[in-house]
Amino acid sequence: MVPFLDLPAAYAELREELDAAWQRIASTGRAVLGPELDGFEREFAALCGVPHAIGVGSGLDALILLLRGYCIGAGDEVIVPGHTFIATWLAVSHTGATPVPVDVDERTANIDPALVEAAIGPRTRAIIAVHLYGRPADMDPLREIAARRGIKLIEDAAQAHGARLDGARTGSLGDAAAFSFYPGKNLGALGDGGIVVTADDALAERVRLLRSYGSRVKYEHELQGYNSRLDELQAAVLRIKLRRLEDWNARRAAVAARYLAELEGLDDLTLTPPADGDAHAWHLFVVRHPDRDRLGRELGERGVQTISHYPIAIHRTEAYAASHGHIALPVSEQLADEVLSLPMGPHLTDAQQDEVIAAMTAVLEPAAASEPRI
Ligand SMILES: Cc1ncc(COP(=O)(O)O)c(C=O)c1O
Repeated sequence: MVPFLDLPAAYAELREELDAAWQRIASTGRAVLGPELDGFEREFAALCGVPHAIGVGSGLDALILLLRGYCIGAGDEVIVPGHTFIATWLAVSHTGATPVPVDVDERTANIDPALVEAAIGPRTRAIIAVHLYGRPADMDPLREIAARRGIKLIEDAAQAHGARLDGARTGSLGDAAAFSFYPGKNLGALGDGGIVVTADDALAERVRLLRSYGSRVKYEHELQGYNSRLDELQAAVLRIKLRRLEDWNARRAAVAARYLAELEGLDDLTLTPPADGDAHAWHLFVVRHPDRDRLGRELGERGVQTISHYPIAIHRTEAYAASHGHIALPVSEQLADEVLSLPMGPHLTDAQQDEVIAAMTAVLEPAAASEPRI
């Protein structure tokens, strides 16, 4: 079986450093809000090119705390893409605000800036742009709209650690950004984790309070906060993995380049290469096919593991059907029917990728596959 993602191989590459890190931390007895978190926050902020990073319990929490940091809540609206992981919408809902979905661009699967303006109303406080699959969203027009309308531009960079748009890193492309360190991400912990990054001093200060009971000094509580802190063990793991991020992202890019070259022209298959100037993080390698379910099933029969990100449009899920099911988001709906993610990761071997390409060719060009390709 070619695994969708090989996390044990990542551990094997780093075993000595990781094992040493948790022994060191366990022996100090300092498990929360200690020097590993301070060090990781400094290093991650430096990667993004912004002054502040605040480690929290998950990517969802990073989005919630960021929105609450801007005092967004009941009665407010936040613009979100129709096609994303449900966490983008949930974060808005959990603050008491209303997610207002905007359809995505068919080519990039990211929010379509041309449709954003029409969705802005008097209650709109922010736009969340998601860099879905690792591809930076089209930030220039979004920044212009947000500035002109006096609203915040927030990046959901959960899938885009280390990506760049015209040279600038994700995390520095809007007013503030949220990242996830869920284990399967480009920079993944050995459990849940997330971070908020920003150049906004006041926001950073509020998020720092919110993540730890609204408290700066023990038992003095300035805000009704949460308990959502990236712990010392996860921070230590992430510091070790952060040093590999550029190398591992380059390995992902090489896998993507080979897929793009070798899968081109297969029957009814849509590939979406990055635009000039985008440094895609290739969190996922996503293809589109009108008969996605059959493609996934037949690849599985040939030993290739695939996943669909995401097979049910969010407004059609049980969680949102009652409130948002009536909204038309045709591109998001079509993507939900057609997207399929192929095995991708820094530890995918050439031999495994050969198998994926051979299986794709066999399923989509059965006649051609039985003859040698010229
Ligand atoms: C686009 C997007 N936003 C937010 C999240 C939430 O992150 P987490 O799972 O760490 O809560 C994820 C990942 O799961 C994601 O892919």
